[in-house]
Amino acid sequence: MKHAVVICHPRMQAFTRLTARTYIEAVQARGDEVVVRDLYAMDFDPRLHADELPDAAGGHVRTEILIERAILKDVDVFAFFYPIWFGSPPAMLKGYVERVFGVGFGYGAIKSGGTGPLLSGRSMVSFTSTGSENLWLVDSGGWDAVRKVFNERLSSACGLQSLDHVNFGGVDADMAPARIDEAVQQVRQAVTDLFPAPPPRARRRAPAS
Ligand SMILES: Cc1cc2nc3c(=O)[nH]c(=O)nc-3n(C[C@H](O)[C@H](O)[C@H](O)COP(=O)(O)O)c2cc1C
Repeated sequence: MKHAVVICHPRMQAFTRLTARTYIEAVQARGDEVVVRDLYAMDFDPRLHADELPDAAGGHVRTEILIERAILKDVDVFAFFYPIWFGSPPAMLKGYVERVFGVGFGYGAIKSGGTGPLLSGRSMVSFTSTGSENLWLVDSGGWDAVRKVFNERLSSACGLQSLDHVNFGGVDADMAPARIDEAVQQVRQAVTDLFPAPPPRARRRAPAS
């Protein structure tokens, strides 16, 4: 199985990166392949440019997006790691989705006419964090909002199965070490639950002599 780990955070010591590292270690321990897309480290340009807007001719795809799509072409699981800023993913991640998961990769022309999802059979999973506690996030409607606006829209447009969305609440610079350990355990557990180990291969019997 191949995972694209999409990390959106400007700081190297961020909590977001700790969860991403934990996920990478856990899936690699299963023998899975990982491709890391560290958007700030890549200095990804989140702006959808005028020539990229889809039109009757299909729209132009810039070279950097063609390269990005080629890197992602055989990915099974898109794993997103980001902090929630003003109730939604950071602008950098929003722009990544708009440019990379657009026409020709996330969705596109289908045989029966019109457009349809192009990533059916693949999946996505999200790990996020907030300064506010999860209880407040749920009560304020923020939890439903981010899942509707980001997860549901992206998964339905592209045909991705949204496997899970784990949010870590109450994340700040003074976070107690015990809570950090708990979060690390939670990411490991999520990987175990989402991607159970394949059954051991049936042992071959020696042919009868
Ligand atoms: C620009 C900005 C907007 C934020 N908006 C929210 C918000 O809407 N709700 C919330 O609970 N926390 C908000 N926060 C707090 C972050 O979610 C929190 O600092 C982050 O998840 C901590 O993880 P990190 O170390 O990976 O940055 C915001 C922080 C910043 C910088």
